[in-house]
Amino acid sequence: MAPDRGRPYSSPQRWSDYFSVAPGNPDVARPPLHGDPVSPFPPVEVTVYSYECDAFGHLNQAAYLEVFERARWEILARGPGVELFSRNKVWPAVRRAAVDYLLPAFPGDVLRVDAEVEKVGGTSLEMRQRAVRVKDEKLLAELHIVFVMVDKDGRPAPVPAEIASVFGSHPSRPGEMARDGAADVALAADVRGDGPALLLIHGFPLDRSLWTHQVATLKGWRRIAPDLRGCGVLDTPEDDYSMVRYADDLVHLLDRLQVEKAVVAGLSMGGYIAFELLRRHRQRVSGLILVDTRADADTAEARATREALMKVAHDEGLGAVGERMLPRLLGRTTQRTQPHLVPQVREMVRRWSVAGIVGALGAMRDRPDSTPLLQTIDVPTLVVVGEEDELTPPALSRAMTSAIPSAAMTTIAAAGHLSPLEAPSAVSRVMAEFLEAVPKS
Ligand code: MLT
Repeated sequence: MAPDRGRPYSSPQRWSDYFSVAPGNPDVARPPLHGDPVSPFPPVEVTVYSYECDAFGHLNQAAYLEVFERARWEILARGPGVELFSRNKVWPAVRRAAVDYLLPAFPGDVLRVDAEVEKVGGTSLEMRQRAVRVKDEKLLAELHIVFVMVDKDGRPAPVPAEIASVFGSHPSRPGEMARDGAADVALAADVRGDGPALLLIHGFPLDRSLWTHQVATLKGWRRIAPDLRGCGVLDTPEDDYSMVRYADDLVHLLDRLQVEKAVVAGLSMGGYIAFELLRRHRQRVSGLILVDTRADADTAEARATREALMKVAHDEGLGAVGERMLPRLLGRTTQRTQPHLVPQVREMVRRWSVAGIVGALGAMRDRPDSTPLLQTIDVPTLVVVGEEDELTPPALSRAMTSAIPSAAMTTIAAAGHLSPLEAPSAVSRVMAEFLEAVPKS
């Protein structure tokens, strides 16, 4: 079966197969195009052993951590080699690791595991690993892991130049965009699959992993899930945040991927950006999926709340913003039945910069009222809302749907504001049904 990825996964056996030019050469940092082998880390295949599985006979979260670690050693050995660290007198100690468990794996399954550096900081490295089952190309689990460089006494040490140049001088994820001459920020994006384009825009204060299930499952579409400016890897500008900027960034991304038109799905703030795309770049939008969002502008009270949250971000940091928002992001059923999603959302918040958070709050505060736009929408439109969404409740979605000349609406049972994460299969299913009916050219 062909891998459902933006690039081939046939495993090159040597480190050098992954570099078209030497590490450190600026040419390596060209934006990877669809199909390019861009990762410096050769993926490896690992077999699941029965002794690694739990009483139900499958790999649990803890066992996944070990499998990912086993794969990392192998990747390191086949890639830059362990001596990269010993020669630089530092060791990458794991500071934080979070497994996103999507599907079970069983004894005998062969998993292809890749590793991609997302960020090189002053003393830290952030990496993402994915485990894909070889026989059916299903994405089973993802790991987000943060390493801190420690010296021989266990103290944090700066990332040595050689290590930074190996890990930081190239785009690190399949489909990820490096700096584009036309744009002034570099966005990271998951790009997967072939077919007409589906652009998935996350909300605030989330990241592209919100769409993990949709990126993994909406076959027949080229799924493009970027991080917005200020969030995730590569660039986090100090200022210059607005709906216009977000929309223009995404158009640069589409240009870079040679995508003329896309069905645009936006969750909450992603929906506000989708409206901006309609205002500024209508010819690029072939369909709309408005998820847990609203068309009206902020009230005076909402503006004041944004400003209070900006102050929290400045004074207390990202964690405090996450804690303030979390109770209203996930629905009450999800909070009770899927508590593992809470740390996942916290992790997304941590991937923002303070400037990015403050910028996004300002951009939302100042966004225009999109209500007058609704009656002009002439592309197929689906409105999706979690029935327990408190931030953008179903009544708003109903009003939006009736103002758009031709829109359908679906309510997702037992989900809150983050329905694609809380009820991923249900949301992917309604999206797939809608996409089926969207004209493909
Ligand atoms: C979001 O999820 O993007 C935000 O909650 C939107 C907002 O605060 O208006």
